[in-house]
Amino acid sequence: TEDMPLTGKKILVTAGPTREELDPVRYFTNHSSGKMGYAIASVAKKLGADVTLVTGPTSLPEPQGITIEKIISTKDMYEATMSRYHEQDVVIKCAAVADYTPVTVHSNKFKKKNDLWTIEMKKTVDILQSLGEKKEHQVLVGFAAETENLENYAKDKMIRKNLDMVVGNDVSKEGSGFGSDTNEIIMIKKDGSKKVLPILTKENAAHEILIEVMELMKR
Ligand code: C5P
Repeated sequence: TEDMPLTGKKILVTAGPTREELDPVRYFTNHSSGKMGYAIASVAKKLGADVTLVTGPTSLPEPQGITIEKIISTKDMYEATMSRYHEQDVVIKCAAVADYTPVTVHSNKFKKKNDLWTIEMKKTVDILQSLGEKKEHQVLVGFAAETENLENYAKDKMIRKNLDMVVGNDVSKEGSGFGSDTNEIIMIKKDGSKKVLPILTKENAAHEILIEVMELMKR
């Protein structure tokens, strides 16, 4: 129907931060609130889609009528996303995934002793990169949160990770990015076309993103 254009389509959205444990009381994370990903999941549901939300820890209420998979670490998010990839029509990777994780996870609380504490970190698995490499029929959308050279970095990410579209936002701008209820985004598609949007509520931004996703599904 006209107002449920995503009926019958399966969309997986990742949202929020991931958390990398260091010991039983400490972890590394980032400023992601999850708002953008939750907004995409809610709007996709309203448009009729069968939505799965793979989410890191957030304080947001759970959207109704969708499948929610709560995860903690990047590795968890990788497994939850990859295991559901084949059946999806669309995957939108909105999560702010931790790029590094501690090499050693202490099983007991690390005790305070020296003035300096050096923690060795290793790269986490790049979920989006893996999705790009294993892409079949899916429309794959990534995000690029940057503080400079937004358009170039975003475009580079789209090509490098084999995406159909990248959504870029400048997280250093007021009214854009982490924690905010609004977002100022640009969307770049693999055909090179670009759409620059003004500051919008995350709901409206989600709607704009899904309109472009529907365009991409037609091809
Ligand atoms: O390269 P960068 O991490 O900035 O790319 C951001 C995009 O890649 C986002 O869509 C994010 O969800 C995804 N990503 C991922 N796995 C990682 C790092 C980022 O899926 N380990």
